[in-house]
This record gives sequence, structure tokens and C-alpha cells, in this order.
Amino acid sequence: MNMRTRVGIIGAGPAGLMLSLLLSREGIDSIILERRDREEIEATIRAGVLEQGTVDLMTEMGLDERMKREGLVHHGIELRFDGEGHRIHLSELTNGRAFTVYPQHEVLKDLIAARLNEGGQILFNVKDVQLADISSSQPRIHFSREHEQSELQCDFIAGCDGFHGVSRPSLPEAEQHVFTRTYPFGWLGILMQAPPSADELIYAYSERGFALISTRSPDLQRMYIQCDPDDDIANWSDEMILEELQARLATTNNWQLRVGPITQKSILAMRSFVIEPMQYGRLFLAGDAAHIVPPTGAKGLNLAVADVRHLAHALKMSYTQNRAELLEAYSTTCLRRVWRAEHFSWWMTSMLHRFPDDDTFYPRLQRAQLEYTVRSRAAATSLAENYVGLPFTW
Ligand code: APR
Ligand code: PHB
Repeated sequence: MNMRTRVGIIGAGPAGLMLSLLLSREGIDSIILERRDREEIEATIRAGVLEQGTVDLMTEMGLDERMKREGLVHHGIELRFDGEGHRIHLSELTNGRAFTVYPQHEVLKDLIAARLNEGGQILFNVKDVQLADISSSQPRIHFSREHEQSELQCDFIAGCDGFHGVSRPSLPEAEQHVFTRTYPFGWLGILMQAPPSADELIYAYSERGFALISTRSPDLQRMYIQCDPDDDIANWSDEMILEELQARLATTNNWQLRVGPITQKSILAMRSFVIEPMQYGRLFLAGDAAHIVPPTGAKGLNLAVADVRHLAHALKMSYTQNRAELLEAYSTTCLRRVWRAEHFSWWMTSMLHRFPDDDTFYPRLQRAQLEYTVRSRAAATSLAENYVGLPFTW
């Protein structure tokens, strides 16, 4: 079967879905090809922090109904070390900006419903996606669906298929300039049915390693502890996890974790990764397909949204005013903000985790940095403006 659209989008994650919605508002048609089925996408647990700019964009686009009802607006975070908590008053330091805790899979449910409601095409369960003729003016995407081979002809292809997708490897090898770092630790993440242990997110530095208290709803909590990235989750009983969380978060005034049944647990690896440029011919990469950040600071989804906002605007200018310069500048424009977020995520990660190969010099530096961050308004402001998110155009 042969099909045609203006923008062929690979991947129905935050990047692909948001791009299709932004394009449709400009009257530009697109088709999304997605490897997984809708149920799986809507059930996969990921991060849940939306920057102010992401919230504002969803609001402008009328995608905010459930987010406004169920999302939790936060005006500060806590940095905890040496048994003491220190509040960073994000809103006060950033002219009233804040962030919203609203899980990524809930965002995805809203975006999928909105796109399907307006008659948009998302083809789920497609297999064997392959890109062709990306340096020509008529690129194509081959794929199969229900054992039928199909071809999608387009003007442009948006590679929104995440870190393990097929888009990035379709760039000629000589064009792939990769910058990467893996960290010698991972995060063990849990979901726990319990009331919140704190009003705000807590980022804790301790001699036993990093811990993070986050939330999902008034009766479901998300928490993480630093662990060996090669560890097997089967080695961690629920009791061990809770004991470790309590120990890493302990304070001099006897702070207590509120506990309940753990309903989900897994280990994630941590890496930083950027490919330059984010474009080749008619193929534009967006989101995790082009860059990965470690989860400290929760920038992943927000970066994906920023990329596609630029891409949608550049495509609009190309279609409606025949101006190609924004498309030509796409990679440079995105990478400026991407590298800022890469630095912030690396910085938060480096400040808060124990590095297994250095337990003397580095911890002293970390403590000095933590103290500076909580004592100096200038240092706290730097954290705050990055945390709530820098402007899309940076
Ligand atoms: N063909 C079609 N679809 C694919 C293929 C393929 N070969 N490979 C991957 N996909 C789909 C995945 O199933 C997924 O639904 O592409 C989508 C990519 O979504 P994400 O991985 O969520 O990436 P992105 O949209 O860039 O969003 C980045 O999401 O995963 C988090 O931490 C990440 O928060 C960040 C954000
Ligand atoms: C989360 O709630 O999953 C979360 C919150 C903050 C982070 C990372 C993840 O920095």
C-alpha cells in the first residue's frame, strides 16, 4: 500500500505526538508510525516533571484539561545533605515560574486522544520501519503492518523514535558526530502506594548514595535510589529498598518515610548523549533520538517538546512563506538549548551521586557545591532557572 503525507513522523512518544499536534494546528498534515501498541505506550512508567514552558505550551494548545485537574504544581524543591533539608524556592527565584508533576504516560494519553479526536492518523504496531532517499526532496518510509508492506511518501521525515529507534542510524556514518558519557551508577526506581512523605521533591546526597523522593498522586509515590547499574532488581527486596531510602534520607530531626506496598520496581542506566547535527537532508531528529540526559533534573521530555516546537515552526515557515532558513538552522537552534540542559543534568548528577572510584576528594567538592547552592542566592537562582526550564529559544 502506498500513502502520502507532508511530514512522516516515526514514533508516538512525546516528541512525535506533540509534533503532529503542532503541525495540524498550522494545517500541515502528518502521519505517525509507531512500533508499539497504544495500551503499552499508555502504561509505560517514565518521569513526570513538566517545565513551566511545557505546561504553558500544553495550555495554549488546549491540552491542559486533565493536567490542570490532576497535575501537582510545585514551587520549590528540597536539597538534603548532612541530615538537613534546604528548600530552594524556585518560584521566588524565577519570577513566579514553577513546575508540574504530571506523569509522562498521562501526557501521552492526552496527546494520543487529542490527535485521534481531530482525525489524525497514528499507525500503531508497525514493523520493519526503514528510511529511504532522505537526501532527496521526496524521502520515503517503508514499513509493514499486519504483514502488509507499505510505503509512506513525504516531504520531510521527523525521527522521533527515541534512543533505540531506526532514524538516527539512517544518517550516513560520516555525518554522525556523537558525544557521550555513561555514569558508573544507575537508579533503582519504585512506585509505592502510600501518602506523600513530603510536600515537595527531595534530592538527597548521602554517603550511601543519592536518593530522590518524588510523587505521582496523593496516594502513589515515585522514589529512586542510586545503585550499581549492572545490579539485578531481583537482588533488591522491598525491605532493602525501604531501609536504604530511610537511611539516605535520615535527618537530625528524625524524618520518617511513609511506607506502603511497592507496586513496581526497576533499574535504569544513566547516560548523557548528543548527536550532531540533528538533521541530515530531509530527516530531522527530535527528542531522545538525538539526545539523552541522565534523569537528575528530569529534562528528557521537556527537551523533546522544545525540539518539536522549533521543528513545527520551521516547517510552517517553509510551507507558508517558502522560507527555508529556520529549517536549515534547526539543528543549531536546538543544540544550543540541548547542551545547556546536558550541562545542567550532568551538573546535578555530579553534585548528588557517590562516585565509586573516588570517596575522598570528590565528596569534599560535592559538599562545597551543595553548601554554595543553598547559601548563595546567585547559585540557587542558577539551579532554579534551569530546573523550571529556560525559554524555548535560548
Ligand atoms: N519504528 C517505529 N516506532 C519506533 C521505533 C521504530 N523502529 N523505535 C522506537 N519507536 C517508538 C517507541 O516505541 C516510542 O513510542 O518511538 C517512540 C519514542 O518515544 P520516546 O522514547 O518516549 O522518545 P521521545 O518522544 O523523544 O521522548 C523523550 O520520553 O522516553 C522519555 O526519557 C525520555 O522523557 C524523555 C522523552
Ligand atoms: C520522577 O518523578 O520520576 C522524577 C522527578 C524528578 C527527577 C527525575 C524523575 O529529577
